[in-house]
Amino acid sequence: MSGIGFEAAHQLAALQPSRLILACRSLPSGRDALKSILAQYPQTNADVWELYLDKFSSLKAFTERARKELGRVDILINNAG
Ligand SMILES: NC(=O)c1ccc[n+]([C@@H]2O[C@H](COP(=O)([O-])OP(=O)(O)OC[C@H]3O[C@@H](n4cnc5c(N)ncnc54)[C@H](OP(=O)(O)O)[C@@H]3O)[C@@H](O)[C@H]2O)c1
Repeated sequence: MSGIGFEAAHQLAALQPSRLILACRSLPSGRDALKSILAQYPQTNADVWELYLDKFSSLKAFTERARKELGRVDILINNAG
């Protein structure tokens, strides 16, 4: 596993955020990434949520979930590309 998103998630986990969301197209890949983060920072309160940035329905579902489940968003890493 590599990439800006994966590294950024690791760095954020080190800062002990109240919640860390990995937004991924592939839930299995996202869960593998999360497993690696939790191996290093087991106390992290983290989840993997599905997000396809090129599908409006996925974006809408993601933002609605975020609105319901997250009190607020402090940091957004827009790394996908
Ligand atoms: N790495 C660098 O040094 C560097 C420097 C300057 C600029 N950049 C730019 O920064 C961006 C990220 O670089 P990276 O090295 O982290 O690339 P990467 O390892 O290829 O990671 C890109 C991530 O974006 C995800 N993604 C792509 N399209 C998506 C979509 N439509 N919806 C949701 N997720 C999507 C991919 O998901 P999947 O795993 O599902 O494919 C992948 O996990 C790229 O645009 C790159 O050109 C990188």
